[in-house]
Amino acid sequence: MATIHNSDSTAGTSPRDGALPSVWQQLSGARPQATIADATDQLWDVIVVGAGITGLTTALRLQEAGLDCVVAEAHQVGFGTTGGTTAHINTMLDTPYHTIESDFGEDGARLVAAATRVGIDTVARNVATYQLDCDFEYKDGVLFAETEQEAELLDKIFSAAQRAGVDVAPTASLSIPLHFHKAIVFHRQAQMHPLKYVYGLADRFVMRGGILLENTHVEDTAYDDGYHRVQTSNGLLRARRLVYATHVPPGLNILHLRCAPYRSYVLAVRIENGNYPDDLVYDMKDPYHYFRTHTIDGVPYLIVGGADHKTGHGDAHAAFRELEAYVRKHFKVSSVEYRWSAQYFEPTDGLPYIGKLPGGDEDTYVATGFSGNGIVLGSFSGMLLTDVILGAENPYEKLFSPSRIKPIAGFASFLKENADVAYRFVADRVHINQLNELAELPSGTGTVVNYEKQQIAVYKSYEGEVIALSPVCTHAGCIVAWNDAEKSWDCPCHGGRYDVRGNVLSGPPRKGLQPISLVHD
Ligand code: FES
Repeated sequence: MATIHNSDSTAGTSPRDGALPSVWQQLSGARPQATIADATDQLWDVIVVGAGITGLTTALRLQEAGLDCVVAEAHQVGFGTTGGTTAHINTMLDTPYHTIESDFGEDGARLVAAATRVGIDTVARNVATYQLDCDFEYKDGVLFAETEQEAELLDKIFSAAQRAGVDVAPTASLSIPLHFHKAIVFHRQAQMHPLKYVYGLADRFVMRGGILLENTHVEDTAYDDGYHRVQTSNGLLRARRLVYATHVPPGLNILHLRCAPYRSYVLAVRIENGNYPDDLVYDMKDPYHYFRTHTIDGVPYLIVGGADHKTGHGDAHAAFRELEAYVRKHFKVSSVEYRWSAQYFEPTDGLPYIGKLPGGDEDTYVATGFSGNGIVLGSFSGMLLTDVILGAENPYEKLFSPSRIKPIAGFASFLKENADVAYRFVADRVHINQLNELAELPSGTGTVVNYEKQQIAVYKSYEGEVIALSPVCTHAGCIVAWNDAEKSWDCPCHGGRYDVRGNVLSGPPRKGLQPISLVHD
């Protein structure tokens, strides 16, 4: 019988960007000490927006380099994807090395492989230097083929990874009893508890004089007289440089056309015979499944991910069903303890965008497009962004620069048209008894309904309260879709997400969904 840990995001502020708690959120240890300080009267060297792994790795490194930094987090440390990742730390990337080689050359593939090593080494060094208690362990990562066709692709992946300098070898065994045709093993991969790690980074950042502001939402930015003016929900901050560690940056930017948002699904299960895999394991399906073991408070969990789909385009319950059927096919599952989903961004050319934000204000930086490799690439970004900001020479800067994006003809008018759409929705009050679909709507769910030729996003809480919102995403005007598993409104265009009251859970939108008054008569 499944004993799934669920919560209703309507009951209060969600500790993560969704209603389903991840296995990491059962953390009993103390949360990091956010700074209670007025940061408005100082001109900062750097404002980092976002307190996930990318933001905190970058901020800590910059602070250590002698810069005065402030981190502004709209929610709490690890609220976004860092609190929902499965924390596989790999030299093997979602974009295979033969693809990188054909698009960026052999030298490019070698640089990417070296970058992944830098990412892993950055985590290992932080764990050692700051004595972070986060269950960090080196592991082997095994990729296995189940069919002849998959084996052919595996050969290609293996050869290109070797040419790129990755430590990889064929293997005849798996640490779990799965049938396979062929397999390769990537040595010296790693895993850890992602929330313990970022909480540790946050503490060390504050101990070194950094300012961490939680519940500080960036509402607007402007660049003037050589510095950024960042209007937040806690006052105006000023800084010479601005780093967006928020996946894609807010506002309208060409990166929104170059990064596609996806959701990946995860189960944490107990298995009967105690036969938990020791390695990080990956199959070759599309989307692929990935699993590993993590022991929390003496309890081992098999953590299985997959069933990915584009944000706002899939059925979350179907994804969980597919994943559960997969894991039950291969393991004797005694209970499903946790299930949750998390968001990532897929770059169109396969490599992340790390560096100066193209088309943005002076001295604005970004790191995004990590695919499913957020821990390693977020950690690598901390190193690369620090070097770029300090003007230090770096072999990686050009390859990962967001300025490799070519300007798109008509982009300016695309933005204007979409920005116009965002503000066209007008419905100041609606008669509740005319929302016919509402009677059929089960508690705890939402849907987009029609009302006098307009659409309205309605949610019915478990207590029977009806909340009506404009379904028009405030970023660029797309219509949001209901995510029934995470109890959120998800935008199918660029991955903006809102809670049931329309508050922004994750960017790029800056403003919440417009509330609509319901009239009872
Ligand atoms: Fe861009 Fe919604 S996130 S239109």
